[in-house]
Amino acid sequence: MNSQEKQETGRTAGARVKERPRIGWGIFILSMLVVFLLGLLAASITERRAEVATLFNNKKVEISGVEARSRVWGLNYPREYNTWKKTAEMDFSSKHLGSKPEDALEKRPDMVVLWAGYAFSRDYSAPRGHMYTIDDMRATLRVGAPMDGKGELQPGTCWVCKSPDVPRMMLEKGVAEFYKDKWSAWGAEIVNPIGCADCHDPATMNLTITRPALVEAYQSMGKNIADASPQEMRSLVCAQCHVEYYFKGDGRYLTFPWDKGFSVEAMEDYYDGIDYKDYVHAVSKAPILKAQHPDYELAMFGAHGQRNVSCADCHMPYISEGGIKYSDHQVVSPLKNIAATCQTCHRESEEVLRGYVYERQDKVLEIRNRAESELAKAHLTAGLAWNNGATQEEMAPVLKLIREAQWRWDYTVASHGGPFHAPVESVRILAHSLDKTMAAQLALQKLLFAKGVKEIVLPDISTKAKAQAVIGLKMDELRKDKAVFMQTVVPQWIKTAQEKDRL
Ligand code: HEC
Ligand code: HEC
Ligand code: HEC
Ligand code: HEC
Repeated sequence: MNSQEKQETGRTAGARVKERPRIGWGIFILSMLVVFLLGLLAASITERRAEVATLFNNKKVEISGVEARSRVWGLNYPREYNTWKKTAEMDFSSKHLGSKPEDALEKRPDMVVLWAGYAFSRDYSAPRGHMYTIDDMRATLRVGAPMDGKGELQPGTCWVCKSPDVPRMMLEKGVAEFYKDKWSAWGAEIVNPIGCADCHDPATMNLTITRPALVEAYQSMGKNIADASPQEMRSLVCAQCHVEYYFKGDGRYLTFPWDKGFSVEAMEDYYDGIDYKDYVHAVSKAPILKAQHPDYELAMFGAHGQRNVSCADCHMPYISEGGIKYSDHQVVSPLKNIAATCQTCHRESEEVLRGYVYERQDKVLEIRNRAESELAKAHLTAGLAWNNGATQEEMAPVLKLIREAQWRWDYTVASHGGPFHAPVESVRILAHSLDKTMAAQLALQKLLFAKGVKEIVLPDISTKAKAQAVIGLKMDELRKDKAVFMQTVVPQWIKTAQEKDRL
């Protein structure tokens, strides 16, 4: 309608009102009704917006300091608490991942050889829900069975990505002191699985960073994490744990190697620069870097990361319930609820979207499996070369190749979501891993030939048990000690925590 037409209509209506006053009253009453209805709508919108505020103002308990017991927060925020509790569920599995416990070494015994000389060769399970962080940490053979002042394998730093009791104890004891002490020193204090106090400031309910390592990593990149946007925070709370890191120096100070950038090469450059290794490989003697779980960094290279789609967008979707919108706190595979995750942004069917995920994962894992088995062979062949009189000088370039190959393989494997988050970057990294592995194998074959070894025969590592025997692990003893630890030390920790009302 152009302005002239509008004037036209206006004039006619005015003229008609003059003629028939009843129409005027009709219009008046109708307008009043519209105003009233609009008022109602506006009120309901404000009401909805005020919901979070109301929720916040109607708190049943006042929370201050670091409250590690999520059940206390649950009194104020029952929806978030009840969905958070569902991280205990173990009923979901997709083609490659899921929330069920799974012995990864049983499925892929090559990894036993790849981690020879490091605790991961004893025990490694696929991750499950946040509710199990404490149970799984106590039970894994990787922390050993520290008892009576003996058998300690890990520092306090190891607890950092497991529990909201960590910021509580850091506040009480000091950050450096927390890292430096023995792992078992905190057994009776670190008792609650990942919970509200890991990600929220109780005074405002805003997202917050509770782990100093992330704040310090930002500082060392010349940035201030306090400047992060709300959307960035929806990923950064996860980046407190789902990242690459190492334990620096004798104080085992938790540090992210981000100074030179986020790429796999930039982090390698950082580690090479400080001559760092996590362990010397028990068979090949290569100085190895153990990748942690660089999900955050790798995701930044993917289509979603580059468009500022956050971790929470896919792993903590909104739920609408009786007009109330809140975040699903059951952090799990987004494929469990495609309608609330992918389909908020994509129009394709659930089948098609699931297919996109599987297709990318299948392709990345195809190369990963090749890289994994060839790299295990490279380690074993290097062992053979040492046994046949290879010298330090002859081996140096080969060990460098193996170190680089393994860092790249592990980087993609330890980033469990990487094959979907950033498939192209994952395949690029794996391709370099395979390339370096094959170069190492070729060099070793030449070396062995020169030493008079005409045929390379490698041991049978086709099952977890066989592979563990090949690298000389005495699994029966490790398991026996662990059983005693679980039956004596852990119940004592729990009892002490209960007496102090920590749970
Ligand atoms: C305090 C550290 C910490 C924080 C913060 C954290 N995670 Fe985790 N996350 C872990 C650990 C540890 C595990 C493995 C738990 C296990 O297997 O016992 C895990 C497991 C997972 C899993 C696997 C769950 C399953 O059912 O297989 C997903 C997915 C996940 N996290 C995503 C996220 C996302 C997304 C965020 C941010 C919203 C986040 N995490 C924040 C430490 C953390
Ligand atoms: C791993 C990190 C993480 C943990 C653990 C966590 N939250 Fe959240 N929470 C989030 C994120 C991300 C949001 C979305 C915030 C946003 O978009 O601003 C959120 C939002 C909220 C909100 C605002 C309303 C909503 O649902 O969007 C409340 C209230 C809340 N969480 C309560 C809790 C409670 C209670 C717990 C413990 C039972 C908890 N959270 C544990 C990350 C976490
Ligand atoms: C665009 C959606 C999307 C975004 C954004 C996203 N993820 Fe994922 N993530 C997925 C999908 C899909 C999978 C594979 C799930 C499956 O195969 O069942 C996955 C897998 C994972 C896993 C492995 C879960 C397991 O069971 O082992 C972790 C951990 C994870 N993501 C963490 C993160 C973190 C941390 C971020 C943010 C840096 C993030 N994700 C961002 C979609 C997303
Ligand atoms: C918050 C919005 C959002 C969510 C949630 C989301 N995506 Fe996306 N997705 C995007 C955007 C934006 C792009 C880039 C599209 C473009 O530039 O054309 C994208 C691109 C993609 C692509 C093409 C890029 C690639 O990696 O090959 C695929 C496939 C995809 N998404 C699948 C999924 C799946 C599966 C899920 C659920 C697990 C999901 N997306 C969840 C926003 C989202």
